[in-house]
Amino acid sequence: MPRPVTPEQAAAHAWFDHDRFGLFVHYGIYSVAARHEWVMTRERRTVEDYEKYAEFFDPDLFDAREIARAAKSAGMGYAVLTTKHHDGFCLWDSALTDYTSQAHQGRDLVREWVDALRAEGLRVGLYHSLIDWHHPDFPYDFHHPRRDDPDAHDPHPERTMEEYRRYLHGQVRELLTGYGTIDYLFFDFSYPWKLEGFTGKGHDDWGSVELLDMCTRLQPGILVNDRLDIPGDLVTPEQYQPSAPMTLAGRRVRWEACQTLNGSWGYDRDNTDYKSHDMLVRMLVDTVSKDGNLILNIGPDARGAITAADRDALDAIGEWMRLHRASIIGAGAADGFTAPAGTVLTRRADRLYVHLLHWPFGHLHLPDLAGRVRFARLLNDGSELPMSVLPPDKEALSTDLGGQPEGTLTLTLPVRRPDALVPVIELYLDDADE
Ligand code: GLC
Repeated sequence: MPRPVTPEQAAAHAWFDHDRFGLFVHYGIYSVAARHEWVMTRERRTVEDYEKYAEFFDPDLFDAREIARAAKSAGMGYAVLTTKHHDGFCLWDSALTDYTSQAHQGRDLVREWVDALRAEGLRVGLYHSLIDWHHPDFPYDFHHPRRDDPDAHDPHPERTMEEYRRYLHGQVRELLTGYGTIDYLFFDFSYPWKLEGFTGKGHDDWGSVELLDMCTRLQPGILVNDRLDIPGDLVTPEQYQPSAPMTLAGRRVRWEACQTLNGSWGYDRDNTDYKSHDMLVRMLVDTVSKDGNLILNIGPDARGAITAADRDALDAIGEWMRLHRASIIGAGAADGFTAPAGTVLTRRADRLYVHLLHWPFGHLHLPDLAGRVRFARLLNDGSELPMSVLPPDKEALSTDLGGQPEGTLTLTLPVRRPDALVPVIELYLDDADE
């Protein structure tokens, strides 16, 4: 079950369920290696070797305002930046380490980030890794870059989780006290099981209960995800699309699918496995049709620039959202309505939205909607779609459409598919359905 919240906290969280769509930004010194944010552990790098990226990290093209604008024009309502990823490098001016963008580049990128989001009217999200492969107190485990060292399984009394916990909590405190209102905190991630002779790390290791209490004391309205290994305010399916509205113990819960454009969170220069633009829009529609949020990731390049492929994707989604945001923002599952084959439904108040994954020839038959719709139109241009109710007992003849099951509403469609990644029909429901 999600963590219990007060009515005030529930009210403070409402923006998230309304906005539906956010931007994830993975940026750090791994972006210099330009081959995935797990490069340090994938390549079993030593701290001494990997630290050189801090010297050659040059965010001269990192423009938080430009990223915020790109998110806003894509129809996103919030954005989340990695403050520290698993490699331990910090993008803010931390007093607890000099392994930071302030110490090395003279830039507090988290400060630039929160200022830019607020200037663009976006909600402020921060990602923070519980894991830290740079920190000398962080015990080895089956994810650690040094896990294959001959002595990796030996006792290392010099590495104490108690000391690391102090560092972890101290840095989260810095982020929640030094940068104004933080609306959303995305912790990442717990792995409380044994593997390869190592024990993982879960809520006791992180001090998750105390950490979450601290977050709530410092930022009473903050949303916190589910990766502390204790209940949070939402669940976070990653790199897959849930097949139905997500539930815990049989009850629907708030959820946010976190997705990449190409399978990598961090900049991955040679990765061309990009999802098509229409796939991305279909994923967004699918998510909202199941009462979920979608947070879509970009990985700025080593200089902090938005890559051309990422920008193209955001621009394409933004153009679709420019005409179709009504079916996404403030919308959710269309409970009680039946989606015709090849369509996905969302609902917002007295509007029902039919997203057409393929364009049928001539007609769309909508079950159980006869007499319940006041008006039907194409959302992209607002043009009317004629409605009819065909007599159920009428046989289809050579040039006659014939009948449909009782209660079916039939729309007549233009032959030519609207020029949109996913065409949408807007139905104005009768008051009775509100
Ligand atoms: C996984 C990945 C991590 C990424 C996160 C985003 O935890 O390991 O690299 O930042 O997903 O949700």
